[in-house]
Amino acid sequence: MSTPIIRKDEKGILTLYVKNQPFFIYGGEIHNSSASDSEYMEREVWPAVEGMHMNTILAPVYWELIEEKEGVYDFSSVGALINQARSHQMHLVLLWFGLWKNAESMYVPGWMKSDTQKYFRVEKKSGEKIPVVSPFCREAIEKDRTCFRSLMEYIRSIDEEENTVLMMQVENEVGMLGDARDYSAAANEAFEQRIPSELTDLTGKKGTWRDVFKEEAEEAFMAWSFGSAVGKITASGKEVYPLPCYVNAWLKQYPWYPGSYPSGGPVVSMQQIWRTAAPGLDLFAPDIYVPYCAKVMDEYQTEENPLFVPEIRKDAVTASYCMYAFGSKYAIGYSPFGIEELTKDPDAVDRPPMEVMRALNIDPTAFEIEGSAEILSETYRILKEMEPLLLQLRGTVHLNSFVRHGENDFGTFARFSRYDMQVAYEPRSGGNPLGAGIIMELSENEFLLTGIMCRISFLSKPEDADKTEILRLEEGSIVDGQFVRGRVLNGDEKMSVRFGRIPQTYRVVLYRY
Ligand code: DGJ
Repeated sequence: MSTPIIRKDEKGILTLYVKNQPFFIYGGEIHNSSASDSEYMEREVWPAVEGMHMNTILAPVYWELIEEKEGVYDFSSVGALINQARSHQMHLVLLWFGLWKNAESMYVPGWMKSDTQKYFRVEKKSGEKIPVVSPFCREAIEKDRTCFRSLMEYIRSIDEEENTVLMMQVENEVGMLGDARDYSAAANEAFEQRIPSELTDLTGKKGTWRDVFKEEAEEAFMAWSFGSAVGKITASGKEVYPLPCYVNAWLKQYPWYPGSYPSGGPVVSMQQIWRTAAPGLDLFAPDIYVPYCAKVMDEYQTEENPLFVPEIRKDAVTASYCMYAFGSKYAIGYSPFGIEELTKDPDAVDRPPMEVMRALNIDPTAFEIEGSAEILSETYRILKEMEPLLLQLRGTVHLNSFVRHGENDFGTFARFSRYDMQVAYEPRSGGNPLGAGIIMELSENEFLLTGIMCRISFLSKPEDADKTEILRLEEGSIVDGQFVRGRVLNGDEKMSVRFGRIPQTYRVVLYRY
């Protein structure tokens, strides 16, 4: 038996291992309610993702269904989901919709939801109670912890050999909206105390929250409070089945003050506090619906935080970001949201109403799906075949991956040992991906180029006076880490190396004269 684990590979890159082999999640997250009915899943979801070259589905498991009756757990819906995944040769990342989901407590069981005395809510400064169970409510956390632990026990009992379930997301987009902190009586009392010793060790400072964190005091206080609760729940679950666990963040975004985005969530600026409060978490993941996805991935991938993207926009640009995530950011997984819709008629897509998107700060074009299924599925296929090469070359100067970072980003430059390459992105147009690519230097003169929506030209080094030319150009594809050639391109077809809207691979051999 070996449990999936995130650990460093021999190059020191944090990697997900399943059955002792590196595993990359080519995934998609299903809609919130889909997994509540296994017949619906069989009818609408599994067939819709067939043929997309995915290996994993991110699916919720619901506290309100598992513990409908207080203290009585029914895991049959989880078992059914795992069985279905197996019969469709898929893995699962399970999303624990427990105490907190999208800065609310909408998935807590009815008996808890209706007992607002015992399971008290977060209060705004005005005294208004909001539909979020307070992270200061010990009884509620204890109930969530006990149920999550039993869920992990159950998963272990049926899955420790097969490893259908790869990871657990603990809660979903934790935090509170509408104010920077909880003003319930328990919270008010805690806010006046000195910060915990763990945070004194982290910051080197002593004093109250205000003394130490100044104008960030409220958000830091909430990050510690939510983080400690989630830390307890995670640790208890991992004690019985140590699957990798992570939390996902609703991003810090315009208008940039805590409470306009969920205060206390695991946004980048609060991650040190979260890591201290919840050391059992393996990573902090971004949910990316903003137009500047690459910038967010750049921020979330660090040496101590591997990039896993559980939710991201699903318009055609998603394929470009996917290439960048695995090619440049050592991602362990990638997963557009509402994946079961991708193969549908674009007009039939169920978009959240405009005012909801505005309230959630979602860029409405994130839900345009024209072209997405075809382009993403080809990207997943290529990346899978590329894995042996990616594993060998990532973290070295022989691999360069890029994506268009914004409206004013027209291209980039890639430097290799004997040559430089100029990458020019094609202009942005609706329904098309963004310029992106992965270049692999196989030897001094030989390269594999995979790309979308860009052109690549080859240059001698500035210090060399000679010229660079193409000696051989082949179209083809990578199969299990090996390039298999198609046409040899010469004459009219050799004028430039140009990539269109469907990702493609070329092998090029260069020479200088
Ligand atoms: C982010 C949440 O995490 C998802 O569960 C979902 O609600 C999307 N937003 C919006 O559709």
